[in-house]
Amino acid sequence: MAIERITVLGSGIMGHGIAQISAMAGYKVVMRDIEQQFLDKAMERIRWSLSKLVEKGRISGDEMNSILERIRVTVDMEEAVKNADLIIEAIPEDMRLKKETFEKIDSIAPSHTIFASNTSTLPITEMAGATKREDRFIGIHFFNPPQLMQLVEVIPGARTSKGTLDIAINYVKSLRKEPILCRKDVAGFIVNRIFIPLVHEAAWELKEGKAGMREIDAAFKFKLGFPMGIFELADYTGIDVVYKATKEMYARDKKVVNPCPIVEDLYSKGDYGQKSGRGFYEYKQGSYARIELSMDEAERYDPVRLLAVAVNNASWLISNDVAGKDDVEKALMLGMGLKEGIFRLAERTGYARIVDTLKGLRDSSRNDFYEPDALLLNLVKG
Ligand code: 3HC
Repeated sequence: MAIERITVLGSGIMGHGIAQISAMAGYKVVMRDIEQQFLDKAMERIRWSLSKLVEKGRISGDEMNSILERIRVTVDMEEAVKNADLIIEAIPEDMRLKKETFEKIDSIAPSHTIFASNTSTLPITEMAGATKREDRFIGIHFFNPPQLMQLVEVIPGARTSKGTLDIAINYVKSLRKEPILCRKDVAGFIVNRIFIPLVHEAAWELKEGKAGMREIDAAFKFKLGFPMGIFELADYTGIDVVYKATKEMYARDKKVVNPCPIVEDLYSKGDYGQKSGRGFYEYKQGSYARIELSMDEAERYDPVRLLAVAVNNASWLISNDVAGKDDVEKALMLGMGLKEGIFRLAERTGYARIVDTLKGLRDSSRNDFYEPDALLLNLVKG
């Protein structure tokens, strides 16, 4: 089946980006949201992003115009889904809302239409169960900003057909992105199983007075080789997104994250990060803002705890056959912009030190979240 028409449900940070890159790849796109004002804001963001790409010579002004012509917006759900070949859901991370939405569109969309969810963490199989097309249902998970991040995780549910998986993978390739198969429908899939716990570990370091926010961020950036500090990245992704993902992941699996109350405090105050003007840092609202960090600040903090937790969760993914080592490394490089692989970093630090750090954390917190994975223990022995 050839995909020509794509509908994106939700026009927020992820929705508008997915609509934009689909139109850039030549698809006819409909973007749907519940209010016209959200769609207006989304189109403004798409214009900003496309102008940046024109400025950089990646597309021409004429191409920008034809991309914009390929995107139609509507608040009418029936209108949005009735002609779609592929529907990608990017609405808020609320299982009840997602199931209601999928159930509703199941009776409107044509029978051949494939349903995909861009959920960060929610179980694909459960969502698919709200429809009568579980074989044509799949997770297609993009990374923020979808316009620039190369990774897309593809997550089949228990009853997703091979044909649907192939179509999803070909769609991702047609966007000139790299699909990585997440073999199991686990909490956090691949990258969020590492990203979300990292935010909390960094927040614990802050709470326990081990270092200041800027020192932790600078070390995360300059010593580990991520493009942003971890608090900067949490603010950029959205504290609301991080908080909701944490809740869902923790409810599914207590071993996936050690939630730090700082994140919940920010969320309950409405400090959602860049989008609200304040999160871990303060921002001039509405702009794409970066935090200037220095090497001097990085020198004042040793990020071994962050590295230990990241590589432990990466090992869990491999031990549990969610993805192979190469795919985990690739996912972190393409989905979070990490310069070299997480295992390469751990190797340089020394696996014995990583394991000792984890054991120390496990013993002092009496939390088996920090229990070193068997793969790491074997690496120390080996
Ligand atoms: N479209 C077009 N251009 C954009 C853009 C967009 N959406 N966003 C930023 N840019 C532009 C900037 O304006 C800047 O332009 P300029 O040179 O004219 O000033 C240019 O891109 C480069 O930006 P930066 O100067 O900030 O430089 P970087 O090299 O750091 O690149 C980045 C920016 C690609 C965002 C990089 O910092 C990065 O990879 N950050 C990590 C992002 C990440 O980890 N994402 C995953 C989060 S987890 C997730 O999404 C999963 C979810 O389920 C929670």
